[in-house]
Amino acid sequence: MPATALPGFREFYPDDAALRNHIFSAWRTVAARYGFEEYDGPPLEPLELYTDKSGAEIMGQLYYFEDKGGRSVALRPEMTPTLARMVGARASSMMKPIRWFSMPQLFRYERPQRGRLREHFQLNMDLIGETSPLADAEIIAAALDVQRVLGLTEQQVCVRLSHRGVIQQLLLNKGVPADRLSATLTAIDRLEVDAPEALEWARKQLVQLGVGGELAEGVLEVARIRDWTTLERAAGAVTAGGPVENLLACRDALFQMGLEAFVQLDTSIVRGLAYYTGVVFELFDRQHTLRAICGGGRYDDLVKQVSGTDVPCVGFGMGDAVLTELLKESKLVPVVPSRVQAFLVAHSAANQVEVLRLAHMLRDEGVSVEYAMKIPNLRRQFEQAGKRQARYVVIVGSPEGADAVVKIRDLASGHEEVVAQGALAARVRS
Ligand code: HAM
Repeated sequence: MPATALPGFREFYPDDAALRNHIFSAWRTVAARYGFEEYDGPPLEPLELYTDKSGAEIMGQLYYFEDKGGRSVALRPEMTPTLARMVGARASSMMKPIRWFSMPQLFRYERPQRGRLREHFQLNMDLIGETSPLADAEIIAAALDVQRVLGLTEQQVCVRLSHRGVIQQLLLNKGVPADRLSATLTAIDRLEVDAPEALEWARKQLVQLGVGGELAEGVLEVARIRDWTTLERAAGAVTAGGPVENLLACRDALFQMGLEAFVQLDTSIVRGLAYYTGVVFELFDRQHTLRAICGGGRYDDLVKQVSGTDVPCVGFGMGDAVLTELLKESKLVPVVPSRVQAFLVAHSAANQVEVLRLAHMLRDEGVSVEYAMKIPNLRRQFEQAGKRQARYVVIVGSPEGADAVVKIRDLASGHEEVVAQGALAARVRS
């Protein structure tokens, strides 16, 4: 049997690696624009870091085992608990708000499908130590700006915005008992609320979660709000500093930034992870053929749970796998530029020594150089240069040239000129 990679684990051939780097570069560009500093943590963590904190869904997807020292350990399925521990350990000495980003590889034992794998890279941007709804808006704007940097517009991508506190308030108004709120949020997270069979599903799921099935209609009504007027009407009087005011302030800030066309209210977004406390959001492709591009929200209690220090946080995780699919589908995969600036061609085998000397000199000056390892005839060397997509061919030892000069040919235009060896690096780079 030929060797194969494990299901859900990718091999990055150079074209795939180039696209991944393109995504990473957009991530770094936006992180820098928002003044975020990079951090990292261990890929292997104590299992207990995820028990209770991440929620049942991720717990069921953990890669975990006992290490040789008898410790229960897990490959990180997400970055947020690590971040919470790191921030908690130093929070009192750090200037707030803290703006941190990271690009970890994460591992989840999921059923592999398009955009859903068993490993993925995830941009995490988290703003720590700030409760203002402007922090929520800042984080969402950064997630949207990554899409814009990659060439995706409001026609292709939207952010579905919601707030756990608002949903809880509306559910209480519908008669859901306070001690069943979190179970009801779990049900909403699993429901396809707009599907025709949603009511039947909602009834079944609520009963399974210990909530009366007769509340299903009310729960669906709450989860189906898609416009701001309906939301404000359903919420009634807006309490100053309360969840509704908070959500509206976040929306207003996004609108003021000029991002209105991307923003869609969606009360079915509650997020599967257990630790969110306020604004929650997910970015989707408009066709909705893919899973979420990005998900995040406010989680004000997690750092306290992990480290005992009380620090409010808001952030998101954005996976590379869904973005890769979307960029391919939207024909936004960049053409990889020519990798080789100069391909050195030896006029005859006698010139090979000179080729090696020149190649090394050019590389020292930062020019990317290749040459044939065995010297075939000139035509074959030119063919090799073409296949390597070289920008220039440098002919070393052409009979009409003196020792101190070489002839170079621009492979795109066919233009040829004679250049002094000392000026070659500057000419090739220009
Ligand atoms: P999450 O919603 O579990 O959130 O993941 C965020 C994003 O990571 C998803 O929207 C998706 O693009 C990508 N992703 C997740 N699982 C997979 C998978 N199996 N295969 C491919 N892509 C995947 C979190 O992880 C939170 N910790 C994010 C966060 C940071 N919240 C606050 N700060």
